[in-house]
Amino acid sequence: MSQTKANQDAVLLVYSGGLDTSVCIPLMREEYGYKKVITVTVDVGQEHSDIAQAAEKASFLKTEHYTVDAKEEFVEKYCWPSVKANGDYQGYPMSTSIARPLIAAKAVEVAKRLGVNAFAHGCTGKGNDQYRIEFGIRAQMPEATIHAPVREKNMTRTWEIEYAQKNNVPIQQSLEKIWSIDENLWGRSIEGGRLEEPDFAPPEEIFQWTKSVETSDVAASILKVEFKEGVPVSINNETASPAQLVIKLNTLAGNHGVGRIDIMEDRMMGLKVRENYECPASTVILKAHKALENLVLTRDEIRFKSLVDSEWSKLAYEGLWWDPFKTNLEAFINSSQKRVTGFVSLKLYKGSVTVVGRNSPWALYSEDLASFDTTTFDQRESTGSVKNFGLQARMFAKLLEASQK
Ligand code: ARG
Repeated sequence: MSQTKANQDAVLLVYSGGLDTSVCIPLMREEYGYKKVITVTVDVGQEHSDIAQAAEKASFLKTEHYTVDAKEEFVEKYCWPSVKANGDYQGYPMSTSIARPLIAAKAVEVAKRLGVNAFAHGCTGKGNDQYRIEFGIRAQMPEATIHAPVREKNMTRTWEIEYAQKNNVPIQQSLEKIWSIDENLWGRSIEGGRLEEPDFAPPEEIFQWTKSVETSDVAASILKVEFKEGVPVSINNETASPAQLVIKLNTLAGNHGVGRIDIMEDRMMGLKVRENYECPASTVILKAHKALENLVLTRDEIRFKSLVDSEWSKLAYEGLWWDPFKTNLEAFINSSQKRVTGFVSLKLYKGSVTVVGRNSPWALYSEDLASFDTTTFDQRESTGSVKNFGLQARMFAKLLEASQK
């Protein structure tokens, strides 16, 4: 009883350690009237120093702080389903969007343990994350109260800085930061500063995981990725845990400058934003996965699956991770992936990744049938079907000709 009562005065802040979420700490006390602020930082593979800084700031600001290591869960339960669905939004492997549901789920786990049902997050009213985080929380805890101070108070950066200074919130690191960066093992996204000018070429300093074409390794590397039922299990014949595989591949492919993407992206609200991504591991894995699907799935499965994949990707982008439509799409996806087992070889060189080989026990391919040298396939048997091919188009041409006489 006393614990529940005490925690009615508590709010759980989904905390990154950045400016937006840091100003939320005094705000929750001063303006929202909470006695206790609990901060939760979920480790999905962002830089270690960011996680450490978040913990330090939380301690300085006297919150009850939790760091949750969710790297393995992130890759296994969020990145791997995205691989099976060839998860892509407007030409890049979705990364921020697939981490948000997990961050929300972990925050709710902590909240339930502590008997808290009020939440706060630092998302702005312009972006996608407010939808993803709030749906993620409500999907696990329908009765949750959720505060979004940055949105509710229509905050500007200038206001936040002033408020932080008045309230003793350390912001030196935030002031030094020119770029807005979001990171997890599946990708690193960089926006803000002069990148907001779509015509401004991304400066080399924004990249941290990938070498430039000029400085990348001069010798190409050949990489062999093994898949079991649609997901990677080993690289160059070495098995590792899901997160370790991705970490390793980020380094290998990043050294070859693979996975830099510069695009205009349409946010959920329709706002266009300029985004830069570094996503070496996900770029390689998605390319290899598609190559293997092309070897084992039927032509109609491939055609239909691309529609299913794009519906899945739209839901994932919007953070609708617990939507029944997604479960139903996954019924098809998972069943198709049972045969996506085998090896894909890729060449990494100067920013490019090229598939150079593939094999699978489920290959729908027969060298004997396809070969120029075969007699198994009696070519003469094709004559009849070729003759009738395009029948309707030919009939139409005849009718057209007659009508013009
Ligand atoms: N536009 C991407 C998304 O909505 C990334 C957003 C976060 N990126 C950032 N650099 N703060 O998924």
